[in-house]
Parts: sequence; structure tokens; C-alpha cells
Amino acid sequence: MPLYAHLSAEARVVADWEDARRIAHLAEDHWIDYPRARQALEELERLLACPERTRMPGLLLHGESNIGKSMIIQKFLRMHPAQDFNVHTGLLQVNVLAVQMPAAPQERRLYGQLMMALNAPFRPSDRLLAVEHAALGLLRRVAPRMIVVDEVHNLLAGSANEQRASLNLLKFLSNQLRCVIVVLGTRDALVALHTDAQIASRFPSFELPRWQENEDFRGFLAGFERQLPLRQASRIAASRSMVSAIMSVTGGVTGHISELLSRAAEAAIRSKRECITPDLLQAVADKRAFA
Ligand SMILES: Nc1ncnc2c1ncn2[C@@H]1O[C@H](COP(=O)(O)OP(=O)(O)OP(=O)(O)O)[C@@H](O)[C@H]1O
Ligand SMILES: [Mg+2]
Repeated sequence: MPLYAHLSAEARVVADWEDARRIAHLAEDHWIDYPRARQALEELERLLACPERTRMPGLLLHGESNIGKSMIIQKFLRMHPAQDFNVHTGLLQVNVLAVQMPAAPQERRLYGQLMMALNAPFRPSDRLLAVEHAALGLLRRVAPRMIVVDEVHNLLAGSANEQRASLNLLKFLSNQLRCVIVVLGTRDALVALHTDAQIASRFPSFELPRWQENEDFRGFLAGFERQLPLRQASRIAASRSMVSAIMSVTGGVTGHISELLSRAAEAAIRSKRECITPDLLQAVADKRAFA
């Protein structure tokens, strides 16, 4: 049996590092697979493979803050990385173009985000028509198959007109470029998009809910433990008291779970216990408010 049989191959290597380096490593995010995320990724793959048609499909991936939406898109982007620069256009070749809805949701800024994502020059002072013209020209040449817009709840920071204009812009891009548009946001995004029946039909919703105390959750915890560089097994998923404590402290929000377990792992390293125990978990939870 290999040393550190309770760990993933990567974590086994890290487990031998000195304490300070292991603790620094805990701050990095590592992708952990779980069924709902896998479903989301499969749905994204299905959309990416969608043939060109007059009315391209879209998707709204929604869930509360810190639940794991952006992590899914980051994972999807790693699976579909930008290819090399095209020497003729000087642009990146990308199938999936990812941007964020600007905090002040104006069409000009959204075009600006798209230009920047393409590594194209953009002057924030340019007028809408000029930016639109430049951006559409570039986008037609690059021809992405999918555009992802994260933080789409930022729409609600805009006036009713700005909201409508930005949403129409997404629809326009989808029609013009024959590409799939995927938007990500909180429940507010769902409200913003689904007030307009036309837009709603373009963006069927896919929810990323909070965790419930069930088999999937224990699977996620087991996956998480496998990548924590601790030298002893904690068997978190098999401990009813630890599973319940994690659920009640974090409210089942993925980001809080990740933070709680990383801090508990840090405490396990510092205390030389080398595994997470119910007492240690409680001590870490007591020190900090997670939910
Ligand atoms: N699949 C995963 N594997 C490991 N950790 C994850 C995973 N998904 C989420 N996390 C943890 O949860 C944190 C929050 O995730 P993420 O940034 O994707 O949330 P979000 O839904 O985009 O939140 P916001 O709406 O605030 O942008 C991540 O930084 C990471 O620590
Ligand atoms: Mg996010």
C-alpha cells in the first residue's frame, strides 16, 4: 500500500512538504468533482456541441453566492482552453469566451469586457457605436461557440433601460454570432432574466443548490479530504458528528465548507495531530462565523 493511501496522488506529494508550505498550499482552490457540478459540465458540453441554428439555446446557471458557480466555469474553461494566437488576426482563438457583467451594466462596458477577453485594445472613452462596431467585427472573426457572462445579477444595479439593453445585447450576440450564451448569477439574476418571457425562454435555469446531508454530500467531503495534505486519515465522511457539524456550521454552502475544512486542516498541521477530529473542527468553527 502506498504511503498516505488516504490521499490523492497530488496530495501525497504535498503531504511530505514542511508545515509552512503545506499550510500555504491549503489556500489554493482544488477542483473536487461532485454530481451536480458534473451535470452542469455535461450540460455545458451539450450546448457547446449544439449545431448552428437560427435560435441558439442558452442557459442560466444560478445559485447563491459562494456556492461554486464560477468554479464550474473555470473548470469548463480549463477543458476548453484558448488556443494560440492567430498570427493573421493577432487574436486569441477561443471556443469559449468568458466575461463578467460589469458592475455598472452598460452595453459599452459589456462590449469592453468582450474586447478585453479577446486581448483586443479597448478605450473606455470610445462611443458606443464605435465600440460596438469594433467588437462585432472582432467577434465575427474569432467566432466563439459560446460566450459565458458571470455575475449577471449585476444587471440589477442598472436602470430598467440599461437592464433591457444589456439583455437585448446578449440576445443580439447570440443571433449574430450563432453562439450559445451562458449566464451565471445569484437568485437576483433569475429574477432579472425571468421577468421578460422572451429572455426567460432563451435562458432555461439550472440551479446549484446548497448541500443537503446525503450521500452526495458525504462523497464531496470524502473528495475534499483526499486532497488535504494531512498525514493521517480523518474519515470525515464516515463520522456522523463531523458531517452534521459541517452542515450546521456552513449551511451547506460549498465555499464555507471549503474554508472550514481548510482551516481545520491548518489547525491539524499546526497542532501536529495531522488529522481533523470532531473537537478540532468544533474549535475552528467556534473561532469564526462561516454562514
Ligand atoms: N468543485 C469545487 N471543488 C472545490 N472547491 C469548490 C468547488 N466549488 C466551489 N468551491 C469552493 O467554494 C468557493 C466559492 O466558489 P465560487 O467562487 O465558484 O462561488 P460562486 O458561486 O461563483 O460565488 P459568487 O456568486 O459569490 O461569485 C471556491 O473558492 C472554492 O473554495
Ligand atoms: Mg462567482
